[in-house]
Amino acid sequence: MNITSKSTLAIQQVTRRFGGLVAVNEVSFDVQENEIFGVIGPNGAGKTTLFNTITGLIAPTSGKVLFDGKEITNFRPHQIAKFGIARTFQNIRLFGELSALENVAIARHLRTTTGVLNGVLGLPPTPKEEKQTYDRAQELLDLVGLSDRQDVKAKNFSYGDQRRLEIARALALEPKLLLLDEPAAGMNPNEKVQLSDFIRSLRDRFALTILLIEHHVPLVMGLCDRIAVLDFGQLIAIGQPEIVKNDRAVIEAYLGDEG
Ligand SMILES: Nc1ncnc2c1ncn2[C@@H]1O[C@H](COP(=O)(O)OP(=O)(O)OP(=O)(O)O)[C@@H](O)[C@H]1O
Ligand SMILES: [Mg+2]
Repeated sequence: MNITSKSTLAIQQVTRRFGGLVAVNEVSFDVQENEIFGVIGPNGAGKTTLFNTITGLIAPTSGKVLFDGKEITNFRPHQIAKFGIARTFQNIRLFGELSALENVAIARHLRTTTGVLNGVLGLPPTPKEEKQTYDRAQELLDLVGLSDRQDVKAKNFSYGDQRRLEIARALALEPKLLLLDEPAAGMNPNEKVQLSDFIRSLRDRFALTILLIEHHVPLVMGLCDRIAVLDFGQLIAIGQPEIVKNDRAVIEAYLGDEG
């Protein structure tokens, strides 16, 4: 056993049923600290459902999720965010009528202490805190390359830029674990190439562990340390890209379709 490696996330026998459909079927795997870990599989394989069980949007029917060794299975999404897990969504969830800056600043409020206390008491944050929140939001927009358009409404950004804005918003929560659900969707080929470097730089800069769902196979293979493959809710392969790429079950279920 490698005693220096540490499991940031442990998925243990997670199952999620929707009526008669088993969307996620007894899935188990660990994600190590600072890993970039890919989750791939055909449409409807259960990838997003798995993310939803990790982030508390839906409860697993059975099984456990552990974060830093602590069970988080039945916590609410905002509690899980506070523990240090942030995500982006396959179907982008931004406040379309708010500016890029406001979208990031709102997320940031979850991290500021008196912001939360004042929030509970129905009071506004202190001016000092408000300034810190907006300064930090600006830094994050700068990081994702959107600072020159911080006052533009989110709905007026391209899909690729909205995905970057979602990443900035997720980072505002100061996560330890970042989950990205199809971050390259809607990006042009050039943006996809840049995305790999960008995700790696985020991991290094913020000492993140990253879990990402992505259909763009070259991106996943080039970026991820390890990959899990789901098919009809089941984990059919897990390992380094080279191993997964040559796995017969994976080729039949998924990669074969891609040519
Ligand atoms: N809330 C829900 N109610 C009922 N069925 C659901 C629900 N969410 C997902 N499903 C079903 O569960 C299965 C897995 O869906 P999921 O969205 O997790 O797949 P996915 O791997 O993310 O697919 P895609 O690549 O298309 O995003 C699908 O058959 C889907 O229709
Ligand atoms: Mg999905």
